[in-house]
Amino acid sequence: MAKYIVEQSGPLRGEVQISGAKNAVLPLMAAALLSEEECIIRDVPQLRDVSLMKEILASLGSKIDELSENTLSIYTEDIISTEADRELVTKMRASILVMGPLLARKGRARIPLPGGCAIGARPIDLHLKGFEALGAQIVINEEDSYVEAVAGPQGLIGETIYLDFPSVGATENIMMAAVLAEGTTYIENAAEEPEIVDLANFMNKMGAKIKGAGTDTIKIEGVPHLRGAKHTVIPDRIEAATFMLAAAITKGSLHICNALPEHLKPVIAKLRECGVRIEVGDDDLIVRGDLGPQNHTDIKTLPYPGFPTDIQSPFMAYLTTVNGSSVVIETVFENRFMHVSQLSKMGASIETAGNKANIKGNAKLRGCSVMATDLRAGAALVLAGLVAEGKTEISEIYHIERGYEKFIEKFAALGAKITRVED
Ligand code: UD1
Repeated sequence: MAKYIVEQSGPLRGEVQISGAKNAVLPLMAAALLSEEECIIRDVPQLRDVSLMKEILASLGSKIDELSENTLSIYTEDIISTEADRELVTKMRASILVMGPLLARKGRARIPLPGGCAIGARPIDLHLKGFEALGAQIVINEEDSYVEAVAGPQGLIGETIYLDFPSVGATENIMMAAVLAEGTTYIENAAEEPEIVDLANFMNKMGAKIKGAGTDTIKIEGVPHLRGAKHTVIPDRIEAATFMLAAAITKGSLHICNALPEHLKPVIAKLRECGVRIEVGDDDLIVRGDLGPQNHTDIKTLPYPGFPTDIQSPFMAYLTTVNGSSVVIETVFENRFMHVSQLSKMGASIETAGNKANIKGNAKLRGCSVMATDLRAGAALVLAGLVAEGKTEISEIYHIERGYEKFIEKFAALGAKITRVED
């Protein structure tokens, strides 16, 4: 198993180019299943999760070509199977996103219950409730842990669906199921994340009629079929936020390019509150952690436009190093404090009670062996490792490589001492 060795690195400086967003590209790839024509997606990050999604699509009948390093062609003239492979699906929760398109195009989808990061129970009840509202029959086979959705003889029929929670994946899956349905669907209390807007923009280029993406009510007028389309993935706001924190924690200065400040408002606000100077452009940011003391703040994760849960653990790593005590409250996922024990091993002083963590600042972090318990927890440990005394050895890094493109190369180019070693 490979590991990262991170050494104390001093201030990071330079320019970093942000990749296309993992959480946008996975639904876009699934949406390509909706058309029998070629779809071309640009700025696709080269990630383990993207490779898995390619394999899943290929197993369903898509022909996938890499037109260049970051450009994919997905062409699904025929869907040859409406059943996704268990081994692939259990490796990645986002594979559930093929369910909506399969149901829309073929009237049937059978999927093993998905895997992914171990950050809480992460049920799929909201996805299934949505499909059911559109007229699909849902059968869950607990014994062999499969879920099946089958449309009625008339196909899916538009309906108003209220989500009990603005789930990102459920909103995407229901949008993809509804684009080819008969009649109009409204998704109320929909997720408002930028990745939802990107998916709606892509499907509208394919001929879908979607309005309101990015607000809490999305209207989808069904159309009989979708054509192919070309689309460029939005920049990864979580990767951008990770580098913003890298500038802050190392007291460095980074120019973060191909990042949309519009998508990063809560992170910008919170870092400014801590004393970090941030200049924003249209699609870039300059983050200065080298201009004076950095102080505590409190954060509470929320659905967009609130503070992103995906940046909670990297932000907590940063808060262990600032002046004063901070409080972090996680409201989106249960069990998303697994990084706390690892940061504590490095010398952080963090106490948790339920979904609340109290963090004492000015920790003297020291390198030791730690484990990336999930993707963003892994990023948190790398940030901590950059300022910890000595060497930090991070295992289970496959989690990090699921979601960050050219992670080592990008950090090393900014002056970080980080290497990947085979154990
Ligand atoms: C997506 C992101 C993930 C991010 C999360 C929240 C992708 C590939 N992943 O995950 O990085 O952390 O949004 O911003 O885009 N829930 C239910 N029932 C459901 C679905 C969700 O109860 O049917 C709950 C989950 O357990 C969780 C909360 O809703 O507590 C949020 O989940 P959701 O928004 O669906 O996250 P994902 O789409 O899985």
